[in-house]
Amino acid sequence: MTAHILDGKAFAAKLRAQVATHVARLKTDHGIVPGLAVVLLGDDPASQVYVRNKGKMTVEVGMQNFEHRLPDTTSEADLLALVAQLNADPAVHGILVQLPLPAHLNSDLVINAIDPVKDVDGFHISNVGLLGTGQKAMVPCTPLGCLMLLRDYHGSLAGKHAVVIGRSNIVGKPMAQLLLGDSCTVTMAHSRTVDLATMVRQADIVVAAVGRAQMVPGDWIKPGATVIDVGINRIATDDGGTRLVGDVDFDSCAAVAGAITPVPGGVGPMTIACLLANTVTACSRANGLAEPVGLTV
Ligand code: GUN
Repeated sequence: MTAHILDGKAFAAKLRAQVATHVARLKTDHGIVPGLAVVLLGDDPASQVYVRNKGKMTVEVGMQNFEHRLPDTTSEADLLALVAQLNADPAVHGILVQLPLPAHLNSDLVINAIDPVKDVDGFHISNVGLLGTGQKAMVPCTPLGCLMLLRDYHGSLAGKHAVVIGRSNIVGKPMAQLLLGDSCTVTMAHSRTVDLATMVRQADIVVAAVGRAQMVPGDWIKPGATVIDVGINRIATDDGGTRLVGDVDFDSCAAVAGAITPVPGGVGPMTIACLLANTVTACSRANGLAEPVGLTV
């Protein structure tokens, strides 16, 4: 079997076009321009690239982009003061504080200082609780993007056995909540799971979000299963260069799976598209307007 490729790049482009349509409608019908504020501390190269891409795409869909680049020595008080200022700014509908924060800062404290309505990452404890109890929440972008790809391919996910590998607050835990919400039977696996191979072999859907290059081989995949690869790892190549790979071994998994996301071009582009979608959703909610259809779950 050769797996169907779940083309996140193409899906994300369509989602951004939908976002742009909603942004244009908010402008013409209500005179509102959705605004996204991104806060980045320090000069981590990967985060810089990510924030630059976010800014570019925010502008491309017609939204306002506010960037706050601060030194990695910024105090907690100064960062909290900036968050308070963004909470109070009516031009800002979404706030994202890029993680990880420098070690001297308490991430939970900072994230929970963001107005939950503007928490387009869905990391605030209120949004985590709302998602966990099946209520209307801001949904974390990467798992939201994964769910959109899964729904687009499968239609209903009801009754499918999903194995989520990785228990991070950013991906693994919210992914499990979303799959449960779509009536999957969900197994959470992680670094201490005993006999991960046997566990993964039972899955109709595998979501790999562990941050370890190519750790899931094809012989762990049930024939015909759907594989969602959240990993983005840079590895050395034989010719002295580098290349990006996921958390699954693409070639061997694609030979067995029914469908699979590539890296790059799978889940990655969905994350930013969902961030833009969440910002439009947040803007609509903040202004008491009907929520755009198709931008969240
Ligand atoms: N760092 C890596 N992924 C993310 C994300 O989705 N949101 C934030 N705020 N930081 C991240």
